[in-house]
Amino acid sequence: MDDLLARGSEKWTKYPPDVLPAWVAEMDFALAPPVRDALVRAVEIGDLGYIGNVDGLIEAMYYFYDRRLGWDLEGQYIALVADVMVGFKELLLVHTQPGDGVIVSPPAYPPYFNDIPHVGRRVVEVPLLADFGVDVDGLDRAFGAGAKALLLCSPHNPSGRVYTKDELAAVAAVAEAHGALVVVDEIHAPLTFGATFTPWQHVLEGGTVLTSASKAFNVPGLKLGFVVGEAASALDETLRYHAGYAGVVAAEAAFSDGDEWLDETIATIAANQRALPELLPEGVRLAHAPEASYLAWLECDFDDPFERFLERGRVALQPGPGFGAAYGRYVRLNVGTRPELVREAVRRMAQALD
Ligand SMILES: Cc1ncc(COP(=O)(O)O)c(C=O)c1O
Repeated sequence: MDDLLARGSEKWTKYPPDVLPAWVAEMDFALAPPVRDALVRAVEIGDLGYIGNVDGLIEAMYYFYDRRLGWDLEGQYIALVADVMVGFKELLLVHTQPGDGVIVSPPAYPPYFNDIPHVGRRVVEVPLLADFGVDVDGLDRAFGAGAKALLLCSPHNPSGRVYTKDELAAVAAVAEAHGALVVVDEIHAPLTFGATFTPWQHVLEGGTVLTSASKAFNVPGLKLGFVVGEAASALDETLRYHAGYAGVVAAEAAFSDGDEWLDETIATIAANQRALPELLPEGVRLAHAPEASYLAWLECDFDDPFERFLERGRVALQPGPGFGAAYGRYVRLNVGTRPELVREAVRRMAQALD
């Protein structure tokens, strides 16, 4: 706890110290030792300049994605960007026009709603189905009405849903029929544990994918993301100079030597996720049994669960309405931590309902 309380990152500083943070997508684990060692070495020799030759990183990336996800990246265009959302905005600037509609499927990672208008495009909402599957007919209608692009989160944040190959193929087919761009955010993919993850490029050759080491290895502050696929070739090459060189150091070490840590981390978060249904207090349930990552989407029988848990339980979850207007009775819980802290978070939730 002392180490966690000493952290200055967002998760551990937004709320007063008596509030247990279980909100933003940062994990509480220590860094993977190879990542820590590589960063320490870089600091020790003052190696924190601009991004240079990245051949080692890209090769490590090929092996990592092939080994972990069965995704062969070799020969793909890969653009380095400051983070996944920067990559997404740059794609929109290059491949769509001002005012174009861009589809987002609530419940959706909150920045999706901000970043589309930030680059002068329009959010078009096509909510996911009740089981968090993609509403392909809804997409067809929205593309038919003029939407030019879709941002799909796979695996899905906040539900932890992993899409099947058939579902993804149906999305690819409908987008292709309308000549629309699909951008697939696969940032959580290396943390899949309960299903088989299908890389987007397995249903659409050269398709556009956002990825990063930032979620799987818990280094989002180091600012490095990747845009993969044909659409990435049109991005400005100088974008890489806005990414972090420390992110390159960390990602190369993670992709090369991070498997053991990643396996342990996945085992811990999978066990945390699987324990949740038993632990959750009455009136709060998992909206979907997660198959990937450390976020759990909770549906409550009462209004404003975020405020209630915070004020009466002193536990901070992520408020549901940020994921879409319909989610006033939802919160997102982060279980990327030790099992004791998950139990403590849930105990505080129960206390808030007493
Ligand atoms: C689905 C999803 N996309 C993107 C991000 C942000 O990634 P980045 O910091 O690389 O933009 C997150 C962070 O939690 C996320 O959950």
